[in-house]
Amino acid sequence: MIGILHEVPSIVDSRGKLSIIEFEKIVNFTIKRVYWLYQIQENAIRGGHAHKQLRQLIVALNGSVEIVLDNGKNKSKHVLNSPSLMLEIGPNVWREIVSFINNPIVMILASELYEEDDYIRNYEDFIKHACSIS
Ligand code: TYD
Repeated sequence: MIGILHEVPSIVDSRGKLSIIEFEKIVNFTIKRVYWLYQIQENAIRGGHAHKQLRQLIVALNGSVEIVLDNGKNKSKHVLNSPSLMLEIGPNVWREIVSFINNPIVMILASELYEEDDYIRNYEDFIKHACSIS
């Protein structure tokens, strides 16, 4: 599997649910930046890039999305349809976020500050990069 789908530890009682991500306990990195996508156009494709170093966790806090991952050799597809799921994506993985259903709010927790130089935004460049590191 290219990404790691985690069940977020959750505490459930009669009042509802509470989900917790404790960094370095559940994933092997810490977070420097958080951003979220919302009011997403139904037919939009978000992502469409890879990162050279950045690690991310993606949580659909509301609604449902599909995330298609590609490491240059294989692809995998993950459905995030619950706030108790999170998808961990390492570096050198092309990702597309598609199929936005029920007004999704997608939170992304990122290991680094925003750095455009860390992005690979052209798929052919990504394939060359993936070949060069494998
Ligand atoms: P982009 O990474 O293309 O969004 P997505 O992958 O979700 O489709 O980012 C859209 C724009 O926002 C782009 O101009 C870069 C800018 N941006 C920042 O300035 N800081 C950030 O932390 C992020 C994630 C994006």
